[in-house]
Formats: sequence, C-alpha cells, structure tokens
Amino acid sequence: REKGLILAVETSCDETAASVVEGGTRIRSNIVSSQIAIHRRFGGVVPEVASRGHVEQITAVMAAALEDAGVHPRDLAAVAVTYGPGLVGALLVGLMAAKTFAWVHGLPLIGVHHIVGHLFAHRLAGGPEPPWLALVVSGGHTELIHIPNDHTFEVLGRTRDDAAGEAFDKTARALGLPYPGGPQIDALASSGDPERYAFPRSWLEEDSLDFSFSGLKTAVLNLLNDAHRRGDEVRPEDVAASFQAAVVEVLVEKTVRAVRRYPGVPVVVAGGVAANSTLRREMDRRAEEEGFLWSAPPLALCTDNAAMIAAAAWPRLSRGWFHGMDLNARANLGL
Ligand code: KG4
Ligand code: ZN
Repeated sequence: REKGLILAVETSCDETAASVVEGGTRIRSNIVSSQIAIHRRFGGVVPEVASRGHVEQITAVMAAALEDAGVHPRDLAAVAVTYGPGLVGALLVGLMAAKTFAWVHGLPLIGVHHIVGHLFAHRLAGGPEPPWLALVVSGGHTELIHIPNDHTFEVLGRTRDDAAGEAFDKTARALGLPYPGGPQIDALASSGDPERYAFPRSWLEEDSLDFSFSGLKTAVLNLLNDAHRRGDEVRPEDVAASFQAAVVEVLVEKTVRAVRRYPGVPVVVAGGVAANSTLRREMDRRAEEEGFLWSAPPLALCTDNAAMIAAAAWPRLSRGWFHGMDLNARANLGL
C-alpha cells in the first residue's frame, strides 16, 4: 500500500466513473461510462433515469478501473467517492458501491466534494501547486474559488441562478439543438457574428464576483419568440455567437477581477465549459494583457471523471482524514 493507490468512484450526475490514481497525480486507469445518449432523448438529465443507469454500470465500471490499472484490491490505500453535491439518487449509487467495496476489503473511505474534485483535476496534468485560483464552470456549477492550500477553499463568487453550462444547454435547446448544448453552440458560433445581438451582461454589484445568467437566457428566448411571431428571419449562428460572447465576457472579466485581488496567483479553469473555444481564446488574450498565468486540464479531465476525485482525496489520505461508514449523500453539500 506504500504507493498510495486510491480507487475513486463518481456518480453525481450522468457519468458512471471509476479510476485508480497513484500518489494523487499518476492516472493508472480512468473509466467513464456516459449516459449522454440516453438523456439526449429527453433533452436533459432525468434524475431517476440517471440513478438506474448508474446501478446498471457501477460494478462493471469499478471492475474495469481495477483491471485497467492492473491493481488488486489489497494494493489499494483507500477508496474515494463523491458524496455531493449532485443528484441524490445518483450519488447514493456510487456511495453505496464505494462503501461496500471499502468494507469488504477493509479499506478507509474518503468522501470528496464534487467541486473539489474539479479543482484538483489539473494536478493529474502537472498543473500549479497552491495557491491557485479556480474558475469552475460546468452544467451544475459556476464558481470562482481561491485555494491557498490543499485543504482550504474560499468561494469568492458563485452563480445566483443558472450555471454557465446550464445556460449553454438551455439556449441550445431554444435553438433546437441536441443535449448537451455547449459543444453545439460552440461549433455553431464559429460561423456567427458575436456582435449581431447585444445580449445583456449581468455584472451585479460593483465589487461582486457572483454570476447571474438567467437574464441572458430570457433575452435569448424573447428574441427567438419575437422573431417567430413577426416572421423575422434569425440566423442561429448569430444567436449562438452573441450569446456565447455575453457568457464568456462575464466569466473572463470576473476572473480578471479575482486575479487583481490575488496578484501573481495562477488561474485554473475547470469543468465542462472549460472546453469552450471562445472562453479559452479570451482567457489567453486577457491573461496576456493582465500578465497572469492560466491553464485548463486536458478536456477528458475537465468533464466529470473519477480520476479528479482520487486526486482530491490524496491530501486527505496523507493526513489520515477518513470518513465513517455513516457517510451520507448530500445533494446540496457546501464547500
Ligand atoms: O463538468 P461537466 O461534464 O458536468 C457537470 O458537472 O455539469 O460539464 C458539462 C457541461 C454541459 O453543460 C455542457 O454543455 C458544457 O459543460 N460544455 C460546454 C462545452 N463542452 C461542454 N459548454 C460550452 N462550450 C463547450 N465547448
Ligand atoms: Zn462536474
């Protein structure tokens, strides 16, 4: 067990995932079984369908993670598992599987906060040591976080309504694009005019690092409804590009404001929306102007996976901070 091998399980949303990571940084296996194809039929994630999907997949996914890594349970140092936030039924499936595995093999259990997992994803790709600033942007979260050390997470700002990815998904749906909408909008926007429509940017109070995307979503819906009523032609490319420009401008400017509070601290962008090409381009441009460093984990580590959960569990393993078998799933777990 001296290698510090952690088996991690992640089932908070629509990916059934398991991974073995060595020493908090070396990926030995990383299995992600996506339910996207199933949920696409419904235009989004259906919680009950997600739970059932996890039940069907979890045993095989965990076995594959061990097999891919060439690791026997007796070689493991701990079992890590996401216990919130997320869909409670989905979380429970992973939690029960992880607990059972830990109990059967006499291994300590480490519960991990899903967002802390996203925060640690870059450690698997040689990203910065603390302190760092993180912009977490996914289907469920939009947060700016300062991480002074491996155990402290100071939330500087968060969304007051929709998450950034949620705004992408809802706008895509309004444009008749399939779920998940982020990549669709990204692709469509590349041939659109980002200045065609002046969608609102919600800056909130002057010193606030919080976000709000529901006004933007409503503005897009109103535009489409009005155009439909009047029989006006609307180019979906232009709507996608103008919407994306509005989201990205706010995300990047608030990140720049956070950097000004912590000069010299590097920025990591994590979560599925970190894949967005305009977000990456704008981060490059502003980082150059403002003189800060930024990076994003490789795409496969930006979206939900269990390797990031193992990476986040590592600092707790080295301190012996374990959870008991009474650990419960918490849909609204805070940081
Ligand atoms: O981190 P993730 O896989 O799952 C959650 O924890 O939510 O993020 C998924 C989200 C979805 O909302 C998806 O539309 C969005 O990330 N996304 C993107 C892009 N790729 C994925 N949003 C904008 N541009 C993209 N290229
Ligand atoms: Zn996530």
